[in-house]
Amino acid sequence: MDQRFVQGILYVPTLPTVLTRVLNLLEEENSSAGDLERIIQHDQALSSKVLSVANSAYYGFRQQIDTVRRAVVALGFDEIRSICLGAGLLGFLQQNAFRDPDFAGELWLHSLAVAEATRIIAVRTNSDEVDRAFTAGLLHDLGKVVLAAFFPDDLEALLSLQEQEAIAYHDAEIALGMEHWEIGKVLAGHWELPLVLEEAIGFHHNPSPSQTYFQLTAAVHLANELAHQLGIGQAGDDQHLGACAPEALAILEGGKADLDSIRDELQARREGIESLWRTLVSKG
Ligand SMILES: [Fe+2]
Ligand SMILES: [Fe+2]
Repeated sequence: MDQRFVQGILYVPTLPTVLTRVLNLLEEENSSAGDLERIIQHDQALSSKVLSVANSAYYGFRQQIDTVRRAVVALGFDEIRSICLGAGLLGFLQQNAFRDPDFAGELWLHSLAVAEATRIIAVRTNSDEVDRAFTAGLLHDLGKVVLAAFFPDDLEALLSLQEQEAIAYHDAEIALGMEHWEIGKVLAGHWELPLVLEEAIGFHHNPSPSQTYFQLTAAVHLANELAHQLGIGQAGDDQHLGACAPEALAILEGGKADLDSIRDELQARREGIESLWRTLVSKG
């Protein structure tokens, strides 16, 4: 990775306090729905986003949910926490902060699909990390988001190199010293994200049993492949289909057959994911 990016990342703004507090709840053993409610209620924008998601077609409640407390009761702690992270990040990295808002929008949809798929895999494999699965999936391509938001000239250079040389996205990244997994990992460190997220971001293309949080990283790896295969959103590197690392596939007891059925489950949730995405990216 080019030192220029290491330097540049130091200038990327820190996460809003509210987002850091929601993330920290993941690490606190005794955190409760009440803690989450208090954090949300202190943030006007987040409160209204949580309510609009809770009332969206994705959940299909017949009765209007008009308080954060009711939303937490109706949807549950984990669900609300995931929504806060999604909404908080999307609010922090507004689409109009990107030179190419469509690229950013597709990248967020891809990230939500990977988040959902990682959660499905974590539940199926009885992972200890179910709580963090959605977050890890959501953040896995953080490096790409950051490149698009803060290094748009470099991203354009990358895309044109890829086109000129007719090479894979990842090869173009390596050629220019801007590997998104490295950039994301450095930013995760800069933001002091939990190590489990830093690993999932840093190794999602290269999971290995020697890593501390291999199970979750492998789940993200598989989830990423599934989101690419189904074409839910786009992330630039859509040409590496079917490249599941065998080590990662091994976390599924039934191997490829399990992966196929997880793919079906993800496909069945596609409309829900897309409607959640529309609610999250809409203003207000
Ligand atoms: Fe990636
Ligand atoms: Fe990805």
